[in-house]
Parts: sequence; structure tokens; C-alpha cells
Amino acid sequence: MLNYSPTATHCCNVPLTPTRSSLFKSSPSSSLPNSLSFSSALVTQQLASRHVYANTNPNIKSKPLHKGLKIMCSTSEPLKVVISGAPASGKGTQCEMIVEKFGLVHVSTGDLLRAEVSAGTEIGNKAKEYMSSGRLVPDEIVTAMVTTRLSLKDAQEKGWLLDGYPRSFPQAESLEKKNIRPDLYIMLDVPDDILIDRCVGRRLDPVTGRIYHINNFPPENDEIKERLITRPDDTEDKVKSRLQIYKQNAETILSTYLNISKKIDGNRPKGVIFKEIDSLLSRVQKDKEASKSGKLTISDSHSDGKPSNKENWRGIPTRLNNIPHSREIREYFYDDVLQATQRAINDGKTRIKVEINIPELNPEMDVYRIGTLMELVRVLALSFADDGKRVKVCVQGSMGEGALAGMPLQLAGTRKILEFMDWGDYGARDTFIKIGSIGGKEVDEQDDMFILVAPQNAVGNCIIDDLRAMTTAAGHRPVLLVNPRLKDLPGSSGIMQTMGREKRLEYAASFEICYCFRLLYYAGTQYPIMGALRMSYPYEYELYKRVDVSAGKEKYVILSTFPKRPTGEEINDAFEGKTRNETKRATGIWGFLSGIL
Ligand code: AP5
Repeated sequence: MLNYSPTATHCCNVPLTPTRSSLFKSSPSSSLPNSLSFSSALVTQQLASRHVYANTNPNIKSKPLHKGLKIMCSTSEPLKVVISGAPASGKGTQCEMIVEKFGLVHVSTGDLLRAEVSAGTEIGNKAKEYMSSGRLVPDEIVTAMVTTRLSLKDAQEKGWLLDGYPRSFPQAESLEKKNIRPDLYIMLDVPDDILIDRCVGRRLDPVTGRIYHINNFPPENDEIKERLITRPDDTEDKVKSRLQIYKQNAETILSTYLNISKKIDGNRPKGVIFKEIDSLLSRVQKDKEASKSGKLTISDSHSDGKPSNKENWRGIPTRLNNIPHSREIREYFYDDVLQATQRAINDGKTRIKVEINIPELNPEMDVYRIGTLMELVRVLALSFADDGKRVKVCVQGSMGEGALAGMPLQLAGTRKILEFMDWGDYGARDTFIKIGSIGGKEVDEQDDMFILVAPQNAVGNCIIDDLRAMTTAAGHRPVLLVNPRLKDLPGSSGIMQTMGREKRLEYAASFEICYCFRLLYYAGTQYPIMGALRMSYPYEYELYKRVDVSAGKEKYVILSTFPKRPTGEEINDAFEGKTRNETKRATGIWGFLSGIL
């Protein structure tokens, strides 16, 4: 943990992490070794030669750095973070702020390579031709450089912030093989046209290493303006080719870090972006400390009371048949759902739904936990409230009248639980978060969005009319349904009510799925798990097969992706290894799957 309190027990001088500043200064080439091992020598030399600069940029509201500033460090394991994103997505800009707040060692492969180029080393000479044409430098060169740098004492002690690496699947695999795994993989997401403008307008200060933009972040005075330089790879054509290379690699790298990845909208003011990153990193840091000290953090409501070790899964979580789910598994899903929902809402979607069917959230199973559903809703609501939105969390009330009054079993007591839940220390409840019911009258002028907790039809009662009234009143404001069940159910007499049925179904279908996760089993069973289907807006449906690796160990391998929700037949085919063009018929042992979708 880092804090500025003089009461902390263990303190250290903060040698500033490498900034772009030192990297633009030409190093005396005579003192430089000539081989690959040079990387570490140059890196060490950069560390020794870096200097302190004051933050004179009015756009960065941060504490100025002073030489000799002391940061108190706790002895807990330091943070390890990867920041990724297309060229000019703002990685370097955010790194400046992250380093200043968290004191991590910033390792930027772009900066390391540029330093090698300007020092005229053998590596630099090799890298130069790749960099100037916007291509990736060969993996072995960059990987050696990065692993050497991460093994140095300061990175080990203070933690690291890796910027621009891994940039290809083999690079990600190299880190995995060396057991170098970040706590968090941040992806900055920025539209292409903005990226091009940012690159073309970028200017660098060779003295301080600060990054400017001719329009967005102009230099503070003429003296700085005079000395600004443009990167040779910042022309429009080169940026386009860098962007294309980035896109080709992004998905495959992500598959390595799926369970620790966090996509962040990078098309906002840099201070706003940093605020989100700051709170993320603080949370991860807190979690690390809690798991080290044996304490549990907020989301421990139904754990077994023991701190669970970080699950050793990559991609989607494994051991989903172990119930209750571990804290890591639950957090994976909360975060996965949140990211998809944020993307959908940022894209202007207003009628969306989440369908997540892990055992703890599957009302058909004995292990259904209302607490997990509530935690998921809390994560969603608090996160949107954090962005300044006023969120109304709605639970349907009792339905029907007289002897027919009642409510679905799964929702009994939900509203009370919501009211008693911890909604954070800063008074979000009743200002940014309100709790209400479902219906037109629940929509207030000041509400910005609505999260509806598992709205559902009950035997003899239909929620659709209340829902429709609510969405009409909400107009263009987002309405998010979490695990709705809007299929028509028979009336209490056992007879399906047919009047208006088509319209009801049409209305239910008007909510677009922004997140889907469901486990696949043999028809009529809930064991063993055969695979999973996942979709996170705006990406494709991913079909996974569960594979036993060794006794007690399993993994999920991706079989196929689908632009639309696959039918049972398509899933069967993928499991049987048939291509999509082959004639299909859902038979044999896999015929089971078609029944459940
Ligand atoms: P590298 O230096 O890593 O370049 P990059 O990934 O293309 O990223 P950039 O440095 O261009 O952008 P950035 O995201 O840091 O954005 P910045 O904060 O500066 O790599 C260069 C080359 O080295 C590669 O092409 C490759 O050849 C080689 N290389 C590097 N790593 C490699 C690897 N692992 N494997 C192989 N080869 C490798 O911001 C950009 C501009 O936008 C600035 O002007 C800034 O002021 C502005 N800006 C930032 N944030 C905002 C905001 N929120 N709003 C408005 N403007 C903003």
C-alpha cells in the first residue's frame, strides 16, 4: 500500500521511475556495450540519470514532485499493471499520472526502444527500421528488454506499470511462461478518427519528457513550444498502419488476460480517465492487502470466511460447479457484466438486458443466491453512480390481488435486502442511488437510468404492462434488466393466456442482450458442465468447451465464435467439430444442447 501518511512504518525514498525525459537525452555511445545485454545496461544507466521535473502542466492536477519526496511504502506485495491500447490512446499520458500517484516503475517498450535508437546501439539500429515504418520490432528483442527491466530491484520492490507490452500473443505467452503476471490489464478504448488526430497533433518535450498536443494540451509557454519535437512515426499513414497492427493482435492478447482485464473509455478528459484508473488500482491494491492479511473486502457476504487464493484460471473462470463460487469468480462476473453494460450504454443503447446463468444465479438450481444477484446489482449501480449518474434500482412488488397476491420466490425479501445493503461511505444511497419498484410512476425526472432486478412473470400474473409503462415514462433513458424472465406463463387455471401474447413477447424481445453467460449441460441435467456460452457487448458470442486437464483441474477452450446467438444446432455442430457449412442435424450425444437454448 502506498500512502502519504507519516505514520506508516516502512519508508523509502522515491527514485522516480523512468520518464520519457531521460529517454530523449542522447547517451554517450562510447560507454555503451554492444550486445543484447546492453538493454539492461542502458536501462540501469537511464535509472541513474533520470531527473526530477516539476509538474507545470495546468491540465494535470497532481501533487508536484520534489526531489527527495518520501513516500511511505508498506511491505505488502506491490502492484503489477499492464496498460494497453491503440497508438495514441493515451497510455503514456495516463502512465505519468499513475506513476506519480502509485510510485510504480514505468516500463514503456516504446521509450526503451527509442532510447536504444538514440543511443545508436545494435538493438537500436535493428529496431529503428521497424519503428520508423510503424511495424512491430521482433518479439525476441523486446521480450529480452522487458524481462530484464522487470527483474531489476526497483521494479520488484515498487511494482511495475508495463506500457506497450505485450503487443502480440507470443509476447503475452512469454510473460506467462516466466510467470510474470499482472494484477490488472487495462485497455484504453478510443475511436480510430480521434487516435489519428491525437498522433498527428502530438508533440514531445525532449527536456522533461512531457507529452503535449498542439490543440488538446498545448505547451505552457513559448520556451517549451520552441523545443517540442514530433515523433517520426506520428504521420497519418504510419499511424494507420500501427493501428491496423494493433487491431490484429488485440483480441489474442486479451484472451490471456480476460479475467483481469478492464476496458476503459479513453475518449474522455484525461483527468476523468485517471480518476477511473485510480479507483481501480486502489481497489486492486486494497484487495491484495486484504488477501495478504487474511481480511476480506466488501464482497465477502457469503464466502466461507477464509480468504481465497487467486484462482489459477485464465480466460473464463473454471470450477464453476464448486458452490458457493469463490470471491474471485463472483468478482470476475460482476466486472465482466459491468464492462459490457457500460459499453452498451456508452453506445447509446437504452433497452438492454443481462442474462447471466452461473449456478448461483440460476433460479432453477438449489444453490440460487439472492446475495450474488444483489452484489451484482450493487456493483453496477455504484459504478454508474460513480460516473455521476442517478440510478434507480427497481424490484417488482407483490403481484395480483387478494388470495392471488404473491411474488416470485426468488425475489422475496429482495427490496429489504437492498435497503439494508452497504452502498458505500460517501452517501451514494438516496442521492445517486434510489430504490424503487417497477411501473410508470416510479420514473422521476431526476433519474438518469434504471436497473431492474430480475423482473418476471408469475403464474397468473404478467409484469409486462408495468414494465411497458416504465419504459414509456423513461423515454430515452437507459433501462437495464438483470436476469429477466419475461416468457408467458400459464394462468392460475393452468391455461395459457393467449390474448395479446404476441405483443407481449415482441415487447420482451425489444431488450437487446448486452451480456450473456450460460453454462451448457446435457439436457435435463445440471452436471457435469460441458461448456459455456459468453457474449459481452459489442463482441461476438464465444462458445467454450470444458476440458479436464488432470485430476481436479479443468480449463475452457474456445471452440467457435458467432456473430449472433448460436442455435442449439450450431452449438452441437461446434462441439462435434463440424464446420458451419456441413449439413447439420442435432443428434447423438450432443443433441442435448439444443434443448436448453
Ligand atoms: P509506443 O511508443 O509504445 O507507441 P504506441 O503504442 O503507438 O503508443 P503511443 O506512444 O503512440 O501513444 P500513447 O498511447 O502512449 O499516447 P500518448 O499518451 O502519447 O511504440 C512505438 C513503436 O515501438 C511501435 O510502433 C513499435 O514499432 C515499437 N514497439 C513498442 N513496443 C513494442 C512491442 N511490445 N513489440 C514490438 N514493437 C514494439 O497520447 C497521444 C496524444 O494524445 C498526445 O498528444 C496526448 O497529449 C493526447 N492525449 C492523451 N490523452 C488524451 C485525452 N484523454 N484526451 C485528448 N488527448 C489526449
